Amino acid sequence: MTVADTKFFAQGNVYLPHIAVIEKIVEETPGVRTYHFNFKDEKLRKEFTFQSGQFAQYSVLGTGEATFCISSSPTRRDHLEFAVQRVGKVTNALNRLGVGAEIGFRGPYGNSFPIDFLKGKNLVFIGGGIGLAPLRSLIWNVIDNRDKYKKIDIFYGARTPTDLCFKYDLEAWDKDKTVNMVTTVDRGDDSWKGKVGLVPKILEEVAPSAKETVAIVCGPPIMIRFTFPALEKLGFKPEQTLTTLEKRMKCGIGKCGRCNIGNLYVCRDGPVFSYAQIKDFVSSEY
Ligand SMILES: Cc1cc2nc3c(=O)[nH]c(=O)nc-3n(C[C@H](O)[C@H](O)[C@H](O)COP(=O)(O)OP(=O)(O)OC[C@H]3O[C@@H](n4cnc5c(N)ncnc54)[C@H](O)[C@@H]3O)c2cc1C
Ligand code: FES
Repeated sequence: MTVADTKFFAQGNVYLPHIAVIEKIVEETPGVRTYHFNFKDEKLRKEFTFQSGQFAQYSVLGTGEATFCISSSPTRRDHLEFAVQRVGKVTNALNRLGVGAEIGFRGPYGNSFPIDFLKGKNLVFIGGGIGLAPLRSLIWNVIDNRDKYKKIDIFYGARTPTDLCFKYDLEAWDKDKTVNMVTTVDRGDDSWKGKVGLVPKILEEVAPSAKETVAIVCGPPIMIRFTFPALEKLGFKPEQTLTTLEKRMKCGIGKCGRCNIGNLYVCRDGPVFSYAQIKDFVSSEY
């Protein structure tokens, strides 16, 4: 799907945010929160559609806009979710809002994970820290259509047990007998019973087969930089590896030229790319 295909575009001024209301806030880690929200406009609430992997521009009225992926799954329509790591102006302003507060939302923008390409294949999800946010949209999407996919492996890591985001999801996937969930931390504590070690190292130890498999990677740049070579060692070709990139954005719709990586615009051509598309830029940018 391209930006121009999205239903939202047909609804008038693309720069005009829709008003959304925060319905629930989940404290994920000391610096990360998930916001559940719904549109104030009832018609939009019913008709809004998006695909896993897409993002939006969210605004705190009077402060400004920031880019976050839609972290909930399009298969679960009761509300929408986004997860935020507190780093600066807008994310700190969001942190001061409570349930019932109004925010601006424009989107969905960008392409999405190529569902048709993934169908019938084994999937290996590899996430680090808040990088699980876009992956969890796709993971729930896949689990809700479980018969359309083969084996599912999920590798997820964070610095410490406290830094693990979406613990309720990790627990659910761990219990799901159709999913192989591997959680790791860089540094454990007395209560930690899972694996200890960096994600790329644990991935190489478990060594999922590359045959008829697609790997989907999202996490901090340092994790991405070491995960791509680990996947190549396991036999994954660059076309078999997908990732979703972050690049500072302004317009979100391919007009301002702010978000380029090489000759690609992350907002318009991405944020989902195959490793084959971005291989030449990754060493310098990531
Ligand atoms: C497609 C996409 C999806 C994203 N999804 C999420 C998400 O789901 N959750 C989430 O927490 N964040 C996500 N981000 C990152 C998020 O957009 C930034 O962290 C956010 O803009 C920070 O806003 P701020 O006003 O709080 O920070 P600012 O005050 O603008 O900046 C704080 C600091 O962070 C740096 N910074 C800000 N944005 C970026 C960036 N994109 N790359 C590198 N450095 C940056 C600034 O230079 C500054 O040092 C996503 C970004 C993109 C492009
Ligand atoms: S954010 Fe303007 S071109 Fe991508």
